[in-house]
Amino acid sequence: MFDPRPIGIFDSGVGGLTVLDALVRRFPDEGFLYLGDTARVPYGTKSARTVERYSVQVAECLLRRGIKGLVVACNTASALGLGALRAHCPTPVLGVIGPGCRKAASIIATLPHPGRVGVIGTRSTVASGAYPDHLADLDPRIQVYSHPCPMFVPMVEEGWLDHPSVRLIVEESLAELRLKPMDALILGCTHYPLLAPVISEVMGPELTLVDSSSAVAEELSHYIGNVIAPAPPGGEAHHVAFLVTDVADRFKETATRFIAGMDEAIVEMVDL
Ligand code: DGL
Repeated sequence: MFDPRPIGIFDSGVGGLTVLDALVRRFPDEGFLYLGDTARVPYGTKSARTVERYSVQVAECLLRRGIKGLVVACNTASALGLGALRAHCPTPVLGVIGPGCRKAASIIATLPHPGRVGVIGTRSTVASGAYPDHLADLDPRIQVYSHPCPMFVPMVEEGWLDHPSVRLIVEESLAELRLKPMDALILGCTHYPLLAPVISEVMGPELTLVDSSSAVAEELSHYIGNVIAPAPPGGEAHHVAFLVTDVADRFKETATRFIAGMDEAIVEMVDL
């Protein structure tokens, strides 16, 4: 049985495009409907109650457009809103935190000693304790060091990826974490993979960085065919549509840093 409907994917803004990029490459036959809640970004500084409410409103908008599954491509929304989304959505819902933690756990499972994992994310994601909780469920012996990096999202949004001050800010933001003994570092925010080269330079090239976008693509492959019917083969390959809640031009401009060819995309503005 096939289902031609798109898979919904959302983020507070452009960051989730790192996840979309991985999904489009992995599933060339599937259609995707991406919503960036650009009117209300950032989610990473907001309370659980607000993020939960925003996430459900976004999901409702995507459901009205007829999606067959939902990928929550925002760490903050996954940390604070996943329970509400699962209760609300009749379709399967996949967040980024579970896949990222499973990937980190599989890396440290090969080590001869109990693993030590660092987690960086927005203030709200770190305060939620979602990553340490998930990791403890997978292996209670894992030592987790979490640290918020609130300066990283604005830097990436402004396109400061190799600006001279980036290295300085990354060094300062990670100064405390660098003192901890770590086997892997989870990039627990959609924007951080764009800073991975600098983060790796600062933390040392021997530290494994875990980017959840490839982990989400991996897990979605278990959903498609089991709980989500695949798109008919040879359908609208790579069909991706974009919705935003504010200023489409600005979205396109920033999004070109995340996905090549984004400046050609049609972006529709919606009210939630
Ligand atoms: N997308 C958010 C996340 O992954 C970062 C941006 C925001 O704070 O909304 O946590």
